[in-house]
Amino acid sequence: MKYNFDEIIDRHGTNSLKWDSRELLINLGFTERYDDETIPLFVADMDFTCPKPVLDALHARVEQKMFGYTYHLSDDRYLKALQGWFNRRHGWKINPESVVYSPGTVFALHIAVRAFTRPGDKVIIQRPVYAPFTSAVEQNGRRIANNELINDNGYYRIHFDELERLAADPTATMMILCSPHNPVGRIWTPDELRRINDICRKNEVILISDEIHGDLIRKSAVFYPLAQVTDTDNAIICTAINKTFNTAGLHCSNIIIDNPELRKSFQKVMGIQSPSPFAISALIAAYNEGEEWLEQLKEYLDGNFDYLETFIEKQMPDVQFRRPEGTYIAWLDFSGTGLSPEEIHDRIYNRANVFLEDGKIFGAGSESFQRLCVPTPRKILETALERIAGEF
Ligand SMILES: Cc1ncc(COP(=O)(O)O)c(C=O)c1O
Repeated sequence: MKYNFDEIIDRHGTNSLKWDSRELLINLGFTERYDDETIPLFVADMDFTCPKPVLDALHARVEQKMFGYTYHLSDDRYLKALQGWFNRRHGWKINPESVVYSPGTVFALHIAVRAFTRPGDKVIIQRPVYAPFTSAVEQNGRRIANNELINDNGYYRIHFDELERLAADPTATMMILCSPHNPVGRIWTPDELRRINDICRKNEVILISDEIHGDLIRKSAVFYPLAQVTDTDNAIICTAINKTFNTAGLHCSNIIIDNPELRKSFQKVMGIQSPSPFAISALIAAYNEGEEWLEQLKEYLDGNFDYLETFIEKQMPDVQFRRPEGTYIAWLDFSGTGLSPEEIHDRIYNRANVFLEDGKIFGAGSESFQRLCVPTPRKILETALERIAGEF
Protein backbone atom coordinates (compact mmCIF):
# COMPACT_ATOMS: atom_id res chain seq x y z
CA MET A 1 0.00 0.00 0.00
CA LYS A 2 1.03 3.62 -0.43
CA TYR A 3 1.62 5.50 2.84
CA ASN A 4 0.98 9.22 3.12
CA PHE A 5 3.77 10.73 5.20
CA ASP A 6 2.50 14.22 4.37
CA GLU A 7 -0.55 13.67 6.56
CA ILE A 8 -0.47 15.99 9.58
CA ILE A 9 -1.88 14.31 12.67
CA ASP A 10 -2.40 16.48 15.74
CA ARG A 11 -0.54 14.67 18.52
CA HIS A 12 -1.47 17.13 21.27
CA GLY A 13 -3.36 15.35 24.04
CA THR A 14 -1.85 11.93 23.34
CA ASN A 15 0.66 11.92 26.24
CA SER A 16 3.38 12.50 23.67
CA LEU A 17 6.79 13.38 25.10
CA LYS A 18 7.39 15.42 21.98
CA TRP A 19 4.12 17.37 21.93
CA ASP A 20 2.69 17.20 25.47
CA SER A 21 5.53 17.57 27.98
CA ARG A 22 5.66 21.34 28.36
CA GLU A 23 6.21 21.43 32.16
CA LEU A 24 8.83 18.69 32.06
CA LEU A 25 10.88 20.36 29.33
CA ILE A 26 10.74 23.76 30.99
CA ASN A 27 11.58 22.30 34.42
CA LEU A 28 14.54 20.43 32.95
CA GLY A 29 15.78 23.75 31.54
CA PHE A 30 15.75 22.60 27.92
CA THR A 31 13.62 25.54 26.87
CA GLU A 32 11.93 28.57 28.35
CA ARG A 33 9.07 28.66 25.88
CA TYR A 34 6.77 25.82 24.99
CA ASP A 35 3.17 26.52 24.02
CA ASP A 36 0.50 25.29 21.62
CA GLU A 37 2.34 26.90 18.69
CA THR A 38 5.75 25.40 19.49
CA ILE A 39 7.10 23.10 16.79
CA PRO A 40 9.09 20.40 18.57
CA LEU A 41 11.78 18.70 16.47
CA PHE A 42 13.89 17.52 19.35
CA VAL A 43 13.31 13.93 20.45
CA ALA A 44 14.02 11.11 17.97
CA ASP A 45 10.36 10.20 17.49
CA MET A 46 8.40 10.38 14.26
CA ASP A 47 5.14 12.18 13.51
CA PHE A 48 4.06 9.38 11.17
CA THR A 49 1.63 6.53 11.69
CA CYS A 50 3.10 3.07 12.13
CA PRO A 51 3.04 0.41 9.38
CA LYS A 52 -0.46 -0.96 8.81
CA PRO A 53 0.54 -4.55 9.65
CA VAL A 54 1.69 -3.32 13.06
CA LEU A 55 -1.60 -1.49 13.66
CA ASP A 56 -3.57 -4.56 12.54
CA ALA A 57 -1.57 -6.79 14.88
CA LEU A 58 -2.20 -4.44 17.80
CA HIS A 59 -5.94 -4.36 17.06
CA ALA A 60 -5.95 -8.15 16.95
CA ARG A 61 -4.16 -8.25 20.29
CA VAL A 62 -6.82 -6.02 21.86
CA GLU A 63 -9.39 -8.53 20.66
CA GLN A 64 -7.73 -11.15 22.86
CA LYS A 65 -9.19 -9.04 25.69
CA MET A 66 -6.61 -9.96 28.33
CA PHE A 67 -3.19 -8.46 28.85
CA GLY A 68 -1.61 -10.63 31.48
CA TYR A 69 2.03 -11.54 32.03
CA THR A 70 3.74 -12.76 28.91
CA TYR A 71 6.30 -15.29 27.80
CA HIS A 72 7.45 -14.08 24.42
CA LEU A 73 9.35 -17.31 23.68
CA SER A 74 6.38 -19.63 24.15
CA ASP A 75 6.53 -20.19 20.40
CA ASP A 76 9.15 -19.27 17.80
CA ARG A 77 7.37 -16.36 16.12
CA TYR A 78 9.21 -13.63 18.05
CA LEU A 79 12.72 -14.92 17.43
CA LYS A 80 11.99 -15.99 13.86
CA ALA A 81 10.70 -12.53 13.00
CA LEU A 82 13.77 -10.89 14.54
CA GLN A 83 16.22 -13.27 12.88
CA GLY A 84 14.42 -12.93 9.55
CA TRP A 85 14.67 -9.15 9.59
CA PHE A 86 18.37 -8.92 10.34
CA ASN A 87 19.22 -11.71 7.94
CA ARG A 88 17.18 -10.25 5.07
CA ARG A 89 18.00 -6.60 5.65
CA HIS A 90 21.56 -6.74 6.91
CA GLY A 91 22.94 -10.19 6.15
CA TRP A 92 23.38 -10.80 9.87
CA LYS A 93 22.48 -14.28 11.12
CA ILE A 94 21.48 -13.89 14.75
CA ASN A 95 21.82 -16.91 17.00
CA PRO A 96 18.46 -17.20 18.84
CA GLU A 97 20.25 -18.06 22.07
CA SER A 98 22.02 -14.72 22.01
CA VAL A 99 18.84 -12.64 22.18
CA VAL A 100 17.92 -10.94 25.46
CA TYR A 101 14.78 -8.82 25.60
CA SER A 102 15.12 -5.40 27.25
CA PRO A 103 12.37 -2.85 27.86
CA GLY A 104 14.64 -0.18 26.39
CA THR A 105 18.00 0.41 24.84
CA VAL A 106 19.04 3.05 27.36
CA PHE A 107 17.87 0.70 30.11
CA ALA A 108 20.15 -1.97 28.63
CA LEU A 109 23.09 0.46 28.64
CA HIS A 110 22.62 1.03 32.37
CA ILE A 111 22.46 -2.72 32.94
CA ALA A 112 25.61 -3.30 30.88
CA VAL A 113 27.53 -0.64 32.78
CA ARG A 114 26.55 -2.28 36.08
CA ALA A 115 27.18 -5.81 34.83
CA PHE A 116 30.57 -5.32 33.17
CA THR A 117 32.32 -2.50 34.99
CA ARG A 118 33.17 -1.62 38.58
CA PRO A 119 32.48 1.68 40.34
CA GLY A 120 35.18 4.16 39.34
CA ASP A 121 35.99 2.39 36.05
CA LYS A 122 36.18 4.39 32.85
CA VAL A 123 33.81 3.91 29.94
CA ILE A 124 34.87 5.22 26.54
CA ILE A 125 32.32 7.19 24.52
CA GLN A 126 32.76 9.37 21.45
CA ARG A 127 31.39 12.88 21.81
CA PRO A 128 29.48 14.63 20.51
CA VAL A 129 27.10 11.81 21.32
CA TYR A 130 23.59 10.99 22.50
CA ALA A 131 23.53 12.32 26.07
CA PRO A 132 22.09 9.20 27.81
CA PHE A 133 25.43 7.47 27.11
CA THR A 134 26.97 9.86 29.61
CA SER A 135 24.12 9.39 32.11
CA ALA A 136 24.36 5.60 31.90
CA VAL A 137 28.01 5.87 32.91
CA GLU A 138 27.91 8.68 35.46
CA GLN A 139 24.63 7.79 37.18
CA ASN A 140 26.14 4.41 37.96
CA GLY A 141 29.28 5.88 39.52
CA ARG A 142 31.61 5.21 36.59
CA ARG A 143 33.71 7.80 34.72
CA ILE A 144 33.73 8.98 31.13
CA ALA A 145 36.78 8.62 28.91
CA ASN A 146 35.96 10.76 25.89
CA ASN A 147 37.38 9.80 22.50
CA GLU A 148 36.27 13.07 20.88
CA LEU A 149 35.33 12.67 17.21
CA ILE A 150 37.25 14.75 14.69
CA ASN A 151 35.04 17.20 12.80
CA ASP A 152 36.42 17.41 9.29
CA ASN A 153 34.24 20.06 7.70
CA GLY A 154 31.05 18.34 8.87
CA TYR A 155 32.34 14.81 8.24
CA TYR A 156 33.28 13.10 11.48
CA ARG A 157 36.16 10.68 11.90
CA ILE A 158 37.53 8.63 14.76
CA HIS A 159 40.74 9.65 16.49
CA PHE A 160 42.18 6.13 16.55
CA ASP A 161 45.49 6.99 18.22
CA GLU A 162 43.63 8.49 21.12
CA LEU A 163 41.25 5.54 21.25
CA GLU A 164 44.29 3.24 21.55
CA ARG A 165 45.62 5.35 24.38
CA LEU A 166 42.30 5.49 26.25
CA ALA A 167 41.67 1.76 25.86
CA ALA A 168 45.16 0.92 27.15
CA ASP A 169 44.29 2.49 30.51
CA PRO A 170 43.56 -0.54 32.74
CA THR A 171 40.68 1.31 34.42
CA ALA A 172 38.90 1.61 31.03
CA THR A 173 36.74 -1.51 30.89
CA MET A 174 33.97 -0.67 28.44
CA MET A 175 33.28 1.33 25.31
CA ILE A 176 29.84 2.42 24.09
CA LEU A 177 29.76 2.90 20.34
CA CYS A 178 26.91 4.67 18.57
CA SER A 179 26.47 3.00 15.17
CA PRO A 180 25.13 4.77 13.14
CA HIS A 181 26.15 7.76 15.17
CA ASN A 182 23.66 10.10 16.83
CA PRO A 183 24.02 13.07 16.25
CA VAL A 184 26.79 13.21 13.61
CA GLY A 185 25.12 10.73 11.25
CA ARG A 186 28.13 8.59 10.35
CA ILE A 187 27.76 4.96 9.36
CA TRP A 188 31.04 3.43 10.44
CA THR A 189 32.83 1.52 7.68
CA PRO A 190 33.76 -2.16 8.08
CA ASP A 191 37.38 -1.07 8.44
CA GLU A 192 36.57 1.42 11.20
CA LEU A 193 34.44 -1.16 13.01
CA ARG A 194 37.20 -3.78 12.83
CA ARG A 195 39.75 -1.32 14.16
CA ILE A 196 37.50 -0.35 17.09
CA ASN A 197 36.79 -3.99 17.89
CA ASP A 198 40.49 -4.94 17.64
CA ILE A 199 41.49 -2.16 20.02
CA CYS A 200 38.79 -3.19 22.50
CA ARG A 201 39.68 -6.87 22.34
CA LYS A 202 43.39 -6.22 22.70
CA ASN A 203 42.76 -4.18 25.84
CA GLU A 204 39.94 -6.31 27.29
CA VAL A 205 37.46 -3.49 26.90
CA ILE A 206 33.89 -4.73 26.42
CA LEU A 207 32.30 -3.15 23.37
CA ILE A 208 28.65 -2.13 23.41
CA SER A 209 27.38 -1.26 19.95
CA ASP A 210 24.13 0.68 19.99
CA GLU A 211 22.71 0.01 16.51
CA ILE A 212 19.17 1.19 16.97
CA HIS A 213 19.43 3.68 14.08
CA GLY A 214 20.73 0.96 11.73
CA ASP A 215 17.55 0.74 9.63
CA LEU A 216 17.13 4.47 9.28
CA ILE A 217 19.73 5.26 6.69
CA ARG A 218 19.72 7.09 3.37
CA LYS A 219 18.34 5.07 0.48
CA SER A 220 21.73 4.91 -1.19
CA ALA A 221 23.60 3.93 2.01
CA VAL A 222 24.56 0.54 3.42
CA PHE A 223 24.68 -0.13 7.14
CA TYR A 224 27.24 -2.56 8.58
CA PRO A 225 26.19 -4.30 11.80
CA LEU A 226 29.24 -4.92 13.95
CA ALA A 227 28.50 -8.65 13.94
CA GLN A 228 28.58 -8.78 10.18
CA VAL A 229 32.15 -7.54 9.95
CA THR A 230 33.92 -8.75 13.11
CA ASP A 231 34.01 -11.31 15.86
CA THR A 232 31.47 -10.58 18.61
CA ASP A 233 33.00 -12.49 21.49
CA ASN A 234 33.65 -9.28 23.25
CA ALA A 235 30.61 -7.35 22.13
CA ILE A 236 27.05 -6.57 23.06
CA ILE A 237 24.79 -5.28 20.33
CA CYS A 238 21.65 -3.26 20.93
CA THR A 239 18.77 -3.51 18.48
CA ALA A 240 15.20 -2.25 18.76
CA ILE A 241 11.96 -1.82 16.87
CA ASN A 242 11.60 1.45 18.77
CA LYS A 243 13.25 3.82 16.29
CA THR A 244 12.72 1.92 13.06
CA PHE A 245 8.95 1.58 13.33
CA ASN A 246 8.10 4.53 15.59
CA THR A 247 7.10 2.26 18.45
CA ALA A 248 9.30 3.70 21.24
CA GLY A 249 6.31 3.79 23.59
CA LEU A 250 6.00 0.01 23.29
CA HIS A 251 9.48 -0.44 24.80
CA CYS A 252 10.94 -3.28 22.82
CA SER A 253 14.69 -3.69 22.46
CA ASN A 254 16.63 -6.86 21.89
CA ILE A 255 20.19 -7.10 23.05
CA ILE A 256 22.37 -9.60 21.21
CA ILE A 257 25.10 -11.18 23.32
CA ASP A 258 26.90 -14.06 21.63
CA ASN A 259 29.34 -14.77 24.45
CA PRO A 260 27.46 -16.99 26.95
CA GLU A 261 29.48 -15.73 29.94
CA LEU A 262 28.75 -12.10 29.14
CA ARG A 263 25.11 -12.98 28.51
CA LYS A 264 24.84 -14.64 31.89
CA SER A 265 26.37 -11.64 33.68
CA PHE A 266 24.07 -9.26 31.84
CA GLN A 267 20.97 -11.31 32.65
CA LYS A 268 21.95 -11.61 36.29
CA VAL A 269 21.86 -7.82 36.69
CA MET A 270 18.85 -7.38 34.44
CA GLY A 271 16.61 -9.96 36.12
CA ILE A 272 13.69 -11.40 34.23
CA GLN A 273 12.03 -8.94 31.88
CA SER A 274 9.20 -9.70 29.53
CA PRO A 275 7.72 -7.58 26.78
CA SER A 276 4.17 -6.27 26.99
CA PRO A 277 1.67 -8.21 24.86
CA PHE A 278 1.61 -5.20 22.52
CA ALA A 279 5.39 -5.18 22.12
CA ILE A 280 5.37 -8.86 21.15
CA SER A 281 2.66 -8.39 18.52
CA ALA A 282 4.26 -5.23 17.19
CA LEU A 283 7.68 -6.83 16.85
CA ILE A 284 6.38 -9.85 14.98
CA ALA A 285 4.33 -7.75 12.56
CA ALA A 286 7.01 -5.10 12.09
CA TYR A 287 9.88 -7.46 11.40
CA ASN A 288 7.78 -9.76 9.20
CA GLU A 289 5.77 -7.19 7.28
CA GLY A 290 7.22 -3.72 7.89
CA GLU A 291 9.58 -3.48 4.93
CA GLU A 292 7.21 -1.85 2.50
CA TRP A 293 6.52 0.95 4.97
CA LEU A 294 10.20 1.35 5.85
CA GLU A 295 11.24 1.72 2.21
CA GLN A 296 8.63 4.43 1.66
CA LEU A 297 9.63 6.12 4.91
CA LYS A 298 13.28 6.22 3.85
CA GLU A 299 12.32 7.84 0.59
CA TYR A 300 10.31 10.46 2.44
CA LEU A 301 13.13 11.14 4.89
CA ASP A 302 15.55 11.56 1.98
CA GLY A 303 13.09 14.11 0.58
CA ASN A 304 13.08 15.95 3.90
CA PHE A 305 16.86 16.04 3.85
CA ASP A 306 16.77 17.35 0.24
CA TYR A 307 14.44 20.10 1.36
CA LEU A 308 16.55 20.93 4.42
CA GLU A 309 19.77 21.01 2.41
CA THR A 310 18.40 23.35 -0.25
CA PHE A 311 16.72 25.55 2.33
CA ILE A 312 19.88 25.97 4.35
CA GLU A 313 21.99 26.66 1.26
CA LYS A 314 19.62 29.38 0.09
CA GLN A 315 18.17 30.87 3.28
CA MET A 316 20.77 30.23 5.96
CA PRO A 317 24.15 30.08 4.22
CA ASP A 318 26.00 30.71 7.49
CA VAL A 319 24.74 27.42 8.89
CA GLN A 320 26.75 24.33 8.02
CA PHE A 321 24.87 21.09 7.36
CA ARG A 322 26.15 17.83 5.99
CA ARG A 323 23.59 15.21 5.06
CA PRO A 324 23.91 12.26 7.46
CA GLU A 325 24.64 8.79 6.10
CA GLY A 326 22.41 7.27 8.76
CA THR A 327 19.79 8.39 11.33
CA TYR A 328 17.07 10.96 10.67
CA ILE A 329 18.99 13.60 12.55
CA ALA A 330 20.41 16.86 11.22
CA TRP A 331 23.42 18.21 13.10
CA LEU A 332 23.49 21.90 12.33
CA ASP A 333 26.56 24.04 12.95
CA PHE A 334 25.58 27.65 13.67
CA SER A 335 29.11 28.83 14.50
CA GLY A 336 29.34 30.60 11.13
CA THR A 337 26.63 33.03 12.27
CA GLY A 338 29.14 34.51 14.72
CA LEU A 339 26.45 34.47 17.43
CA SER A 340 26.91 33.13 20.95
CA PRO A 341 25.25 29.80 21.84
CA GLU A 342 22.83 31.71 24.09
CA GLU A 343 21.84 34.04 21.27
CA ILE A 344 21.39 31.10 18.86
CA HIS A 345 19.20 29.36 21.45
CA ASP A 346 17.15 32.50 22.10
CA ARG A 347 16.47 33.08 18.42
CA ILE A 348 15.36 29.49 17.74
CA TYR A 349 13.53 28.54 20.93
CA ASN A 350 12.08 31.83 22.15
CA ARG A 351 11.65 33.89 19.01
CA ALA A 352 11.05 31.27 16.28
CA ASN A 353 9.24 29.04 18.80
CA VAL A 354 10.88 25.90 17.46
CA PHE A 355 12.22 23.42 19.98
CA LEU A 356 15.40 21.59 18.96
CA GLU A 357 18.23 20.25 21.11
CA ASP A 358 21.15 22.45 22.12
CA GLY A 359 24.52 21.12 21.03
CA LYS A 360 25.95 21.43 24.55
CA ILE A 361 23.79 18.44 25.59
CA PHE A 362 25.99 16.25 23.34
CA GLY A 363 29.25 17.37 24.90
CA ALA A 364 31.56 20.33 25.44
CA GLY A 365 32.71 21.88 22.17
CA SER A 366 29.31 21.52 20.47
CA GLU A 367 27.71 24.61 22.01
CA SER A 368 27.12 26.28 18.64
CA PHE A 369 25.35 23.24 17.20
CA GLN A 370 21.67 22.38 17.18
CA ARG A 371 20.19 18.92 16.62
CA LEU A 372 17.06 18.77 14.52
CA CYS A 373 15.07 15.57 13.89
CA VAL A 374 13.48 15.56 10.44
CA PRO A 375 10.84 12.75 10.64
CA THR A 376 7.80 15.00 10.46
CA PRO A 377 5.48 15.92 7.58
CA ARG A 378 7.28 18.19 5.12
CA LYS A 379 4.88 21.07 5.81
CA ILE A 380 5.83 21.08 9.51
CA LEU A 381 9.52 20.99 8.62
CA GLU A 382 9.03 23.85 6.15
CA THR A 383 7.21 25.99 8.71
CA ALA A 384 9.84 25.33 11.37
CA LEU A 385 12.70 26.21 9.02
CA GLU A 386 10.98 29.35 7.77
CA ARG A 387 10.42 30.50 11.34
CA ILE A 388 14.07 29.85 12.23
CA ALA A 389 15.42 31.54 9.09
CA GLY A 390 13.25 34.57 9.88
CA GLU A 391 15.30 35.12 13.05
CA PHE A 392 18.76 34.89 11.44
C1 LIG B 1 21.62 6.05 19.96
C2 LIG B 1 20.34 5.89 20.73
N1 LIG B 1 20.22 4.89 21.62
C3 LIG B 1 19.09 4.71 22.32
C4 LIG B 1 18.00 5.55 22.17
C5 LIG B 1 16.77 5.32 22.95
O1 LIG B 1 16.39 4.00 22.84
P1 LIG B 1 15.27 3.36 23.75
O2 LIG B 1 14.04 4.18 23.56
O3 LIG B 1 15.13 1.98 23.22
O4 LIG B 1 15.78 3.41 25.15
C6 LIG B 1 18.08 6.61 21.24
C7 LIG B 1 16.95 7.53 21.06
O5 LIG B 1 17.05 8.56 20.46
C8 LIG B 1 19.28 6.78 20.52
O6 LIG B 1 19.42 7.77 19.63
